Amino acid sequence: MSKPEKIVAVKGMNDILPADAPMWELFENTAETILKSYGYQKIVTPIVEDTSLFARAIGAVTDIVEKEMYSFEDSMNGDQLTLRPEGTASVVRAVLEHNLVYDGPKRLWYKGPMFRHERPQRGRYRQFFQFGAEAVGFSGPDIDAELIMLCRRLWDDLGLQNVRLELNSIGNADERQRHRADLIAFFEQNEAVLDAEAKRRLHSNPLRILDTKNPAMQEMVNGAPKLLDYLGEESLAHLNGLKKILDRNAVQYTINPRLVRGLDYYNRTVFEWVTDELGAQGTICAGGRYDPLIEQFGGKATPAVGFAMGIERIIELMKGLGETQAPSQCDVYMVHQGEEAQAQAFILAERLRDAGLDVVLHCATPAGSGSFKSQMKKADGSGAAFAVIIGDDEMAGEKAAVKAMRGEAGEQQQASVPFLEVVDYVVDQIVGGGGEHDCVDENCNEHGHHHRP
Ligand code: HAM
Repeated sequence: MSKPEKIVAVKGMNDILPADAPMWELFENTAETILKSYGYQKIVTPIVEDTSLFARAIGAVTDIVEKEMYSFEDSMNGDQLTLRPEGTASVVRAVLEHNLVYDGPKRLWYKGPMFRHERPQRGRYRQFFQFGAEAVGFSGPDIDAELIMLCRRLWDDLGLQNVRLELNSIGNADERQRHRADLIAFFEQNEAVLDAEAKRRLHSNPLRILDTKNPAMQEMVNGAPKLLDYLGEESLAHLNGLKKILDRNAVQYTINPRLVRGLDYYNRTVFEWVTDELGAQGTICAGGRYDPLIEQFGGKATPAVGFAMGIERIIELMKGLGETQAPSQCDVYMVHQGEEAQAQAFILAERLRDAGLDVVLHCATPAGSGSFKSQMKKADGSGAAFAVIIGDDEMAGEKAAVKAMRGEAGEQQQASVPFLEVVDYVVDQIVGGGGEHDCVDENCNEHGHHHRP
């Protein structure tokens, strides 16, 4: 018989394995805590939407809509559907569908997988995760500043350094129209320098030519008319208002007149947080205003602004910080030998969980549960603060051996504790600092957990 063919993940789509999961959790918990502290509420939208939603919101002449969407026909009813390439369009649809802003503006956040059929490379995947925020119904630059500053707080809390902010204003439709006319004329004068892609975009989306990575075009592009010079009074006032708040709060930024973004819904403020530590895909967060979008979808004119972060890229930066110590799986690891001991360990494990502790029970195979030595190795590897050990002697004396795992090898304490007192003993040790625990507050619920540091 020939070997069965190996099934592997779809190209550009990754598994997040248990070894990396704690890092993801740390990112998500930190981000969610910060978003909550600024008054943002969670929203979850479907992963699949009507294709026309993205085509209309993102723009027909964009990379995403032209060539990166996972679109398919629902074979049951012929509907044209798409795996979401980003979250803003879906949030806008949900806001309109449920009339979410009927009683005033809303601050929203979301997270989840997005899909783009791009050429996979480091930091660029076909399924990737975004963490995003959308502030809907706010017109002033204060909310732009708020979004930028909560990003800064997140980088600080995660310990990320070397992340910088690039900022620009792309004005409103009229301002872009005037700029566009001059831009096309300028590019036509420099046609000899344009590459094939730029020529293709010359009349459809000339602004994007400014974003070119082609070194041969850089000098020419640097001399192109700058949209910033075309901003009218209101757009300028908005940009200056934003700059003022950022300055007052010591947020550093550079104005990058060539920052134009790859989605069509933007106006006025656009920004990106970038790092040099990730190679070519160095943008870890990007966003801006999209004031006209909701009206374009048939809603009442409602200004809005948001951002999305690429979680894989942030995780890679976090890994670079070198905190390699494996986080603990549990507070208590239950070690046992013999059928009766196993049953007792099972019961005690449930009681410990009732008390809010995370407990891993050593799992027996039909051949038994293995030597104490090999089980203690597992207990050690789990990062547990305590091992609770039950064998024949313990069963006879109705006591468990409770061993503190975190001290220096020589001073690891072991106590013999009656079964009925094990829960109180372990909780006391952990809360009272017997186990190595930074937190003195009994009600500490940091990271959604009671006791583990
Ligand atoms: P975006 O610039 O297309 O904007 O994506 C935002 C972020 O998602 C990027 O800066 C990057 O970190 C990450 N990202 C994008 N594509 C990939 C990929 N193929 N692989 C890995 N990471 C990727 C948006 O999606 C807008 N919806 C942002 C926004 C929200 N604007 C206003 N509100």
